[in-house]
Amino acid sequence: MLTLETTIAGRHFDRCLMNAAGVRCQSSRDLDALVQSRAGAYVTKSATPAPRPGNPSPRMATMPHGSFNSMGLPNNGLAYYLDYVIADEQKRPGKTNFLSLAGTSLDDNLAMLHEINDSAYQGFVELNLSCPNVPGHPQTGYDFEATRQTLEAVFDFYQKPLGVKLPPYFDMAHFDAIAGILNQFPLSFVTTINSVGNGLLVNFETETVAIKPKGGFGGIGGASIKPTALANVRALAQRLNPDIAVIGVGGIMSGRDAFEHILCGASMLQIGTQFGYEGPAIFARIAKELGDIMLLKGYTSIEDFRGKLKTLD
Ligand code: SIN
Repeated sequence: MLTLETTIAGRHFDRCLMNAAGVRCQSSRDLDALVQSRAGAYVTKSATPAPRPGNPSPRMATMPHGSFNSMGLPNNGLAYYLDYVIADEQKRPGKTNFLSLAGTSLDDNLAMLHEINDSAYQGFVELNLSCPNVPGHPQTGYDFEATRQTLEAVFDFYQKPLGVKLPPYFDMAHFDAIAGILNQFPLSFVTTINSVGNGLLVNFETETVAIKPKGGFGGIGGASIKPTALANVRALAQRLNPDIAVIGVGGIMSGRDAFEHILCGASMLQIGTQFGYEGPAIFARIAKELGDIMLLKGYTSIEDFRGKLKTLD
């Protein structure tokens, strides 16, 4: 009997597919649509303590093989998302979902985590250390010492399951360095990768940049970033303690992409760009395509092939 179920930090999910934070998850209506879909879980739009309008428009553009954005964390504020996830847990006991946080300072993150720690919420927190789009605020995940200090301050008091969302890394030394830090903390998972930050898209006709914020610099998502995403999933899965699950994000448009992420070590898959283009029906499509591939290859569960990518030596 074929199953797409997965487990992260002892929590069970019927299917290993969900949205990526930022895409179609800002309003309760978006989140309701995810609950109704074939996704195995949802993650809320990364929250700041108070609602934020985000960056000025145009702040998103399509590319031939992906997406390009500098949204700047538009969101409805922590209280909105915390109310939603707590109400959802009351309606659907036993279902774990993900509450994403992206404070623009350590103090903001700690204040939000204190509120969540003191609340009835039982689900996962995905602490976003990798938003490239807030002017004047570099990505914490690229500052190894700041990442360590953040996690020390968080785990000094935070008692509930928590993971981090990371930016892409591009060097073996950086995979070693970040994994060395993450392994010192009781993380439930890491989510890798956020968009490839600070690319530049040029409009050939108008000879301008394509989006307004940050002089046109923005994060790249979608098909173009799949090799970078697979490398980060693989490199972290090879280096992290087995208790820390890897959630793969980046370039998942088909069951085959999902299969490749799992082969590299992902226990859960998040879909961003293509979910934005296709809507909630994508989860049933990709579940079907992934299931068909598994049947063809003789696998009945993702554990049969997770992390089992072979090398050519
Ligand atoms: C944004 O709101 O700018 C995107 C969030 C992210 O990349 O973490």
